[in-house]
Amino acid sequence: MNEFSVKQLLTQQPLSQPVTVKGWVRTFRSNRFIALNDGSTIDNIQCVVDFEKLDESLLRKISTGAAVEISGTLVESQGRGQSVEIQAEELIVHGTADPETYPIQPKKHSLEFLREKAHLRVRTNTFSAVMRVRSALSFAIHEYFQKNGFYYMHAPIITGSDAEGAGEMFRVTTLDPVNPPKNESGEVDYKEDFFGKETNLTVSGQLEAEAYAMGLGKVYTFGPTFRAENSNTSRHLAEFWMIEPEMAFFDLDDNMDLAEDFIKYVLRYILENCQSDLQFLEKRLQDEEKTKPQKERSDMSLLDKLRFVVDNNFVRVSYTEAIDILKNSTPNKKKKFQYPIEEWGADLQSEHERYLVEKHFKCPVILFDYPAKIKAFYMRLNEDGKTVRAMDILFPGIGEIVGGSQREERLDVLRGKIEELGIDEEELWWYMDLRKFGTAVHSGFGLGFERLVLFATGMGNIRDVIPFPRTPQNAEF
Ligand code: 4AD
Ligand code: MG
Repeated sequence: MNEFSVKQLLTQQPLSQPVTVKGWVRTFRSNRFIALNDGSTIDNIQCVVDFEKLDESLLRKISTGAAVEISGTLVESQGRGQSVEIQAEELIVHGTADPETYPIQPKKHSLEFLREKAHLRVRTNTFSAVMRVRSALSFAIHEYFQKNGFYYMHAPIITGSDAEGAGEMFRVTTLDPVNPPKNESGEVDYKEDFFGKETNLTVSGQLEAEAYAMGLGKVYTFGPTFRAENSNTSRHLAEFWMIEPEMAFFDLDDNMDLAEDFIKYVLRYILENCQSDLQFLEKRLQDEEKTKPQKERSDMSLLDKLRFVVDNNFVRVSYTEAIDILKNSTPNKKKKFQYPIEEWGADLQSEHERYLVEKHFKCPVILFDYPAKIKAFYMRLNEDGKTVRAMDILFPGIGEIVGGSQREERLDVLRGKIEELGIDEEELWWYMDLRKFGTAVHSGFGLGFERLVLFATGMGNIRDVIPFPRTPQNAEF
């Protein structure tokens, strides 16, 4: 076979050989030069076509977006801008793209416009680069865990429990939404439902991962999770992918060490393996920065930011220390925080998190030992009786990227906690079993995959780092 990807043609340069390449026309100029891209790399291959020698009716069919197959010889290019090009001898048009109606033309389209064309946007440089980096990160994540003795565990998508206790769940039901069956007290009778109880799409695979860690030792999940939070922000999706490692016999310090090592590993992986895409994205970001006022511009390039995270220690500070810092700070001379921190116990808003990371420490921060009252029921209570062994990792430009904790492994303490919160122990009977039989110290965390991709690619909106974003009022595709 002489078939090559564009990436192979550009890197292996099989000069003077017959080659075939298939892809989509990016530009067509002077009725002669086709810039072809097949998704294998950010770069195009130039194909020189002499239509007089081929069927001239083909000429009409070539325009941006058309799918074509070109066979010819790879030669050194005479023109500027590329080292090699294909002298085409054969051209097959698989599918045309009417220039009057094909939306992705060779000009700068806004990201907002492209969001409305989510099915076609991967044919642009920006989105193909982002999606290749996303794919490489996924691979690196699996590689890290597989090399370090973790087993990949598939947590269920449909569950009966609310792992985070935040009540932000998408219900799963086969009941008639208009006239659901009711019980004697007039409430919806879920016994009649498919599973015979209330179920929802999972918000986190953590509870099930805990069960598996207590048998396999170290596990990780990597799957979609769902939250019906009405958060129209550039950091939230209703459907996002989460990586959740869970480790038996790990305490919070071990958990923090693992999280930091893991994040550095996957970012190092893309620095080594996605150079041309990252360089493209860096340039894109620089162009975007130029449109901002001087003082809002970032002083570090994308690659510098990535290298900085890989090469430096994350700062670790307790919630209590962070509160002291925040109480005595103002984000800048004129402005106060919108929600000034007045007392210990308050939940941090994103303005506080950003201040700590971007202004105060100027590096990724791991905050730990949060007040029990603002964290989930399963976190291990500290000796002080008021803080829990929780940790959040905060990243510059992103905010919270990881949430994790050491889990409450003591049956009596966990029981007290769920009683206090009014959670029905019956619902969690299997989770309580894990504390009755062979319980042990264990920990884990959840990394929001799209937030990692946001950081890695320098994109500004989470909707632009997942193929088909799900947000309130938006599930068009
Ligand atoms: O902090 P969260 O809610 O933690 C958990 O779900 C734990 N059960 C994880 C664990 O310990 N196994 O979510 C974890 C991470 C957040 O730090 C954030 O990066 C991401 O998931 N995340 C979201 N990403 C995109 N859109 C949303 N709506 C998100 N909600 C959380
Ligand atoms: Mg969190």
